[in-house]
Amino acid sequence: MRNKVIIGNWKMHKNIDEAVTFCKSFKKYSNEMKKHNVLVGVCAPYIDLASIAKYSKDMIIGAQNCHYEDRGAFTGEISHSMLKNIGIKYCIIGHSERRKYFNETSNECNKKIKVLLEDNIIPVYCVGETLEEYEANNTKKVVEKQIKEGLKDLTTKDFDNFVIAYEPVWSIGTGKSASTEIAESVCKYIRDLVAKLISKEASDKVIIQYGGSVKTNNAYDYLHLPDVDGVLVGGASLEVDSFKELASKAL
Ligand code: PGA
Repeated sequence: MRNKVIIGNWKMHKNIDEAVTFCKSFKKYSNEMKKHNVLVGVCAPYIDLASIAKYSKDMIIGAQNCHYEDRGAFTGEISHSMLKNIGIKYCIIGHSERRKYFNETSNECNKKIKVLLEDNIIPVYCVGETLEEYEANNTKKVVEKQIKEGLKDLTTKDFDNFVIAYEPVWSIGTGKSASTEIAESVCKYIRDLVAKLISKEASDKVIIQYGGSVKTNNAYDYLHLPDVDGVLVGGASLEVDSFKELASKAL
């Protein structure tokens, strides 16, 4: 049985004080949820991480990106080993906002994923099509390319702790969530791809999330689909009470 994994992506929200306050009032709840095989937590801005990394034993604490080199002349970047050094256990890779605004490619994501796995940090690899690609009926083609490039050279063992998030770009921050039929069909397609490219064992283990305008009123529907093991949540993860309410829909 796969765990349910619910991750809040705070994006560029919350200063250190706000992040600490959130985690303090969230940790009891997330510990309780663990007993039901539901893992919950947040991926916070870099500046918050050193102050909230200590909550990693209570809840998911992750970064939203990393650099694949250990160190070097990369002004403004944070390396995977710096994240490891402060005890970070998860890292979002290839979010559509990074692909769009910072020109990240799936090949770069692959480099990041490999170094994170070496550091025992769980990648949350994001894939998904744009509105144009969706309207042209190219969802599966686009996702397949992102998966093939992002997961290149990985082995079954790498999927002991691995999250893939399917997030149609047209559903992120728009209030237009994908139907449960679309979410299940693309998440199943991704699972079958993992079976084909890596192994059946890897496809049984990998956690696949849906993301894009997940709210308290639709979370239940996604969280109980056969091939959807969790959700990646933007806007609805910023308030403690409503995020708890959303995550409780996994039960
Ligand atoms: P949203 O964002 O829930 O605000 O649509 C999701 C995401 O970007 O991961």
